[in-house]
Amino acid sequence: SPRFKNVAAKLKEVLPEELFNLIKEIGKFADERKVNAYIIGGFVRDLIIGRKNFDVDIVIEGDATVFAKELAKRFGAKVHTYERFKTATVVFKGGKRIDFASARTEVYRAPGALPEVDMAPLKKDLMRRDFTINTLAIKINEKEFGKLIDFFGGLKDIKDKKIRVLHSLSFVEDPTRILRALRFATRYRFELGKHTERLLKIAVQRKLFKTVEGQRIYHELKQIFLEDNPLRVMNKLEKYRIISSLFPSISWDRFKKDLFERIRKVIIWHKLNFPEKETKYHILYFGALFLREPLNRVEKYIKELAVPQKEAELLFQILKNSLPLIKKVRLAGKNSEVYELLQNLPEEFLLFLAALPQDEETRNRVLNYLKSWRFIKPLVNGEDLKSMGLKPGPVFKKILSKLKYAIIDGELPNDREEQLTRAKELVDAEKR
Ligand code: CTP
Repeated sequence: SPRFKNVAAKLKEVLPEELFNLIKEIGKFADERKVNAYIIGGFVRDLIIGRKNFDVDIVIEGDATVFAKELAKRFGAKVHTYERFKTATVVFKGGKRIDFASARTEVYRAPGALPEVDMAPLKKDLMRRDFTINTLAIKINEKEFGKLIDFFGGLKDIKDKKIRVLHSLSFVEDPTRILRALRFATRYRFELGKHTERLLKIAVQRKLFKTVEGQRIYHELKQIFLEDNPLRVMNKLEKYRIISSLFPSISWDRFKKDLFERIRKVIIWHKLNFPEKETKYHILYFGALFLREPLNRVEKYIKELAVPQKEAELLFQILKNSLPLIKKVRLAGKNSEVYELLQNLPEEFLLFLAALPQDEETRNRVLNYLKSWRFIKPLVNGEDLKSMGLKPGPVFKKILSKLKYAIIDGELPNDREEQLTRAKELVDAEKR
């Protein structure tokens, strides 16, 4: 539709001014270097769909590493280049990162193969991609700034709300695209194209996942678990029998579906209350997926997926300890006992506990710990204890803990005078 022929105005409208200007500058610089430069991929897709996305990927028709190095020099930016892939990341002064890739200009041909049709490097590059909705490009050179390029009907497929592969071997070349197709379909509420769905089913039937490195599967599952609603993606995976294809012993049952939904709500709550914390939310969903499975089997899956060491440890901690621990939390007497059970546990573990099905009171205990108990500090400090004539030592920590526990248990108000009085009593008891 002609509305999208040029998207310069749309870019200006949705991007932060600084980023818009930066992209224009990069376009001008491309003119200077006499190369064509395009924004491609997810950014363009989301611009058209209307989803916020400021991850800019730029393709250069030429050598992107040379281009990025010169660009960085001009802008006083940092640059990382990956010569093997002819890609680069430029980190600009404000911290903005932009990735650059080279559209292949060289032609690889098997001996005796038919001569390749002459094709623009950009088009060749886009042809290797997963779905038509990801093949849109925006030219950023000054003269044609904002020109939308659509070789493969991506625009129409966005309008029709369809996920379509570019060619019949797409899932065979890269079976992780099976997971990506269902992730995008869920995120945008698109359908699979008829032919694409048929190809996907065949690919699953042929067990093509078996040919993929585990860590690539892990990466795609993680991407699914970082979506707003992983449960909906999982239900699609189940529909195509993908879960049992990946993890033969796991049943996608009511318990797991409920747990996924509870985790989603806990994450929403947590993001709202602790937006600054860096939390590996995807681990919660991996925990839910594997909960109640025999540990030796889970161990095998985790090894196959090559889960990074730290995340694997976290996952095991959740799988081994969360059910026994939540029981202890339920049976604990005072709040301070709950505090002692929960202190120093990783954020992900605590959130998993909060998501486990349980009675209201137990759940509130975990939430209170997360929200307030862990931040409570007495209004009395070590200096105060010193001036009461107590010699510094482990006893300081003991008394301050007692004060803290008394506050957590509601036995001591948030009042300095009263806390000093109580501290004095505790100090005297120690001296005796
Ligand atoms: N791509 C592909 N096959 C894959 C993975 C990626 O063809 N198995 C292509 C896609 O065309 C995609 C681009 O590489 O547009 C970048 O991939 P990625 O960053 O994973 O995806 P985005 O499209 O940016 O999606 P998201 O919004 O999930 O980041």
